[in-house]
Amino acid sequence: MHHLGESGIVAAVVNAGAMGFITARSFSSTDALRGDLRRCRALTGGRPFGVNLTLSRRAEQNREVADWIRTALEEGVRHFESAGASPEQLVEPIQRGGGLLIHKCPSVRHAVSAQRLGVDALALVGLEEGGHPGANQLSAFVNGAYALEEIHIPLVIGGGIGNGRQIAAALALGADGVVMGSRFMVATEIVAHDALKQRIVAAGAHCSTAILASLGDTWRVMDNEAAREVQRLEAAGARRHSEFGDLILSSRTRQRVYRDGEVEAGIVSLGPAGGFADAIVPAAQIVGQLIGEAAQAAHAFARRVVDADASCPATGAVS
Ligand SMILES: Cc1cc2nc3c(=O)[nH]c(=O)nc-3n(C[C@H](O)[C@H](O)[C@H](O)COP(=O)(O)O)c2cc1C
Repeated sequence: MHHLGESGIVAAVVNAGAMGFITARSFSSTDALRGDLRRCRALTGGRPFGVNLTLSRRAEQNREVADWIRTALEEGVRHFESAGASPEQLVEPIQRGGGLLIHKCPSVRHAVSAQRLGVDALALVGLEEGGHPGANQLSAFVNGAYALEEIHIPLVIGGGIGNGRQIAAALALGADGVVMGSRFMVATEIVAHDALKQRIVAAGAHCSTAILASLGDTWRVMDNEAAREVQRLEAAGARRHSEFGDLILSSRTRQRVYRDGEVEAGIVSLGPAGGFADAIVPAAQIVGQLIGEAAQAAHAFARRVVDADASCPATGAVS
């Protein structure tokens, strides 16, 4: 999570038994990234955590990626998540260094290509994803069901997942896990103004909207004044990123929304999963709640399967 995914929240989810990725692109220098990796290692006491490598479609913005990988490997990181573009250039250096690469993408076609390139695992996101779900028009569960026909390496699905029931459903579908972001925006350890977290807690299922689809750069974000202004400019014909001024810049979001708490003033990546957030609490509490909900849903599902089998043995529903 750009500008938010750093050692505090990553260590908190890792220590709670989940997996977290530090977003390399958030750091102003490789030294700053190295410092945060060391801090995360100290906070997690040897548990594995990962580094997210968000690639840009503009090659000049990917110049530091090789340094990020080298630095992370030197600091003992072995789990990497790539996103944003083809992982072609990343597979070899990561695997040569003893690392594993999970590639995140929004379409089954790209997932199949990444599998062919030799990535170790895949994260497939649907159009509900907070952030950049691309031009994909399929939901997480439709995408996931199609992908399972063609993917033979570990696969997690995500986009819109904010409740444990959905985790149980993803596992029942056949996925190996889920990827989540929006639901954790309200975690105590997320370094963002409380006004933003309170805004998300107060919001419901319709807390998000899509912007920049007309530029071929669909971005699912919090439905606020800044997002509506972007949509107005798009409706008026803006078709180049430069036509939106600093409205869509992450530096504006970081300063005005995350730091100053002006929740209407900048674009915040967020999907409908944010609507499930009901309190500002430590990440461990969110993970615990999700696992509890998932276990309850899984037990209820198992009971239904057994009941269905008993009442209709000819179906052979359970072997
Ligand atoms: C505030 C925020 C920032 C994000 N930044 C990034 C990013 O920099 N790189 C990336 O690969 N994904 C990013 N994402 C996407 C998440 O890593 C994850 O794929 C997504 O949140 C899952 O969908 P969900 O939000 O519906 O749970 C971001 C998501 C949010 C909510």
